[in-house]
Amino acid sequence: MEMDTLLWTLLGTVTLLLSIILLHNKRTNFSLSSSSSSSSSSSKCSGKLPLGTLGWPFLGETLEFICCAYSDRPESFMDKRRKMYGKVFKSHIFGTPTIVSTDAEVSRVVLHDTNTFVPFYPKSVTELMGKSSILLINGSLQRRVHGLIGAFIKSPLLKAQITRDMVKYVQESMDKWRDDQPTYIQDETKNIAFQVLVKALISLDPGEELEHLKEQFHEFISGLMSLPVKVPGSQLYRSLEAKKKMVKMLQKIIQSKRNFGMPTIPRDVIDALLQDTSGQLTNDLIADNMIDMMIPGEESVPVLMTLAIKYLSDCPAALRQMTEENMKLKKLKVLSGEPLSWNDFLSLLPFTQSVITETLRMGNIITGVMRKPTKDIEIKGHLIPKGWCFLAYFRSIHLDENHYDCPYKFNPWRWQAKDTSSHTFTPFGGGQRLCPGLDLARLEASIFLHCFVTQFRWEAQEDTIVHFPTVRMKRRMPIWVKRTEEKC
Ligand code: HEM
Repeated sequence: MEMDTLLWTLLGTVTLLLSIILLHNKRTNFSLSSSSSSSSSSSKCSGKLPLGTLGWPFLGETLEFICCAYSDRPESFMDKRRKMYGKVFKSHIFGTPTIVSTDAEVSRVVLHDTNTFVPFYPKSVTELMGKSSILLINGSLQRRVHGLIGAFIKSPLLKAQITRDMVKYVQESMDKWRDDQPTYIQDETKNIAFQVLVKALISLDPGEELEHLKEQFHEFISGLMSLPVKVPGSQLYRSLEAKKKMVKMLQKIIQSKRNFGMPTIPRDVIDALLQDTSGQLTNDLIADNMIDMMIPGEESVPVLMTLAIKYLSDCPAALRQMTEENMKLKKLKVLSGEPLSWNDFLSLLPFTQSVITETLRMGNIITGVMRKPTKDIEIKGHLIPKGWCFLAYFRSIHLDENHYDCPYKFNPWRWQAKDTSSHTFTPFGGGQRLCPGLDLARLEASIFLHCFVTQFRWEAQEDTIVHFPTVRMKRRMPIWVKRTEEKC
């Protein structure tokens, strides 16, 4: 790591820690006292508080957690404790007593029990998302919003439209690539995935308005990992201001849709949510959720595509097999004269799907999810006290040699004989909150990879994966490309 980056990282980490400690002090005291009350009520719950340590006063084990998170083995924090205490242990991270689960079965039970476990996010995230974000609401309203989004994404109309748009945006982007300068895959995929998602969410095409939205969105998203300090000039304050501007723009779109009547078949996610007749889905709720749903277009989907290119660059055998499979499909389409369809990608490219699955397993784009129990509860003999944080850490499960042979080896072939619906493979979460965008994410990655390997050969420059606070490539994945084939 360069010296100035190291200094900034350290300074940032220390400031972040201090602020978290100060701001969470109140909550920690509450949580710790609730833990002692839970031990009394633990007589009702027969389970035992998992082994582990709460670490230093106030700091807990946060410093060690962050040090590991910045390394190339973030799971080493968990590995060490798994050896000492077992797959489920207690800790104290980011100012909150926490039960960490690296046990697939325990995590599965928690993710399915939406009556007891509610979402839990850092303060800056809840502040920016707003109370009505699908990530924060619970119960029947969450089920309703989730159901409407999921049904729309599965609709044949969206599938056809999104495949068309995606092929167009990918091709437009690739047309600009040159062989005399590096192409930064992470930037290119961010641009493509954001355009696709915004089109699906609010039917906005590339142009001036989209550029303005993107600008505000970047300001908004920078606040998600910022200090929870809301004073003029702070990142959180700037992000909230940017969100206000985006909400205003979206409110205008939503209101004009309400005024001019709805199409019989929804054309975008706003249309799908406006079909609800309960009166609960207000303009504010819809606007908030549209903004939140743009996050995967900037974060998760581009990272999935970028990591796939990284792993393929390091595994020539997989790249060869995937290129052959995709060239076969390309020739088939040229012969039939038909455009590429959603089904072509998800059913005619089995090896490409295995590459994406293996990328999801190794990449751990969402490393885990957090919940908070609303009462003391026992799962598989472990007591999870009311008010504590529960961290379902997927990464340790995806890299567990008991579930996957040679887990650190990129091996897409393993999926030819393995089921992706197992509870030891949860890149998209599980239960009632299972990601409704999972097929869309796979489709976007498939189209990108198809167009890429059927048109280019490339040489990747040295780059490394950063895991904290979000997964990304340190140098934005620069590659040198050479066009070898015609367009898709
Ligand atoms: C590689 C890409 C993606 C990954 C790894 C991913 C992962 C996840 C995970 C792990 C969750 C569960 C969160 C929790 O349980 O607290 C989730 C929820 C969600 N995802 Fe994704 N996601 C991806 C792409 C997308 C896309 C493209 C969309 C857009 C349609 C999307 C929309 C959502 C929504 C709306 C939720 C909240 C569901 C709810 O709470 O009911 N995701 N995602």
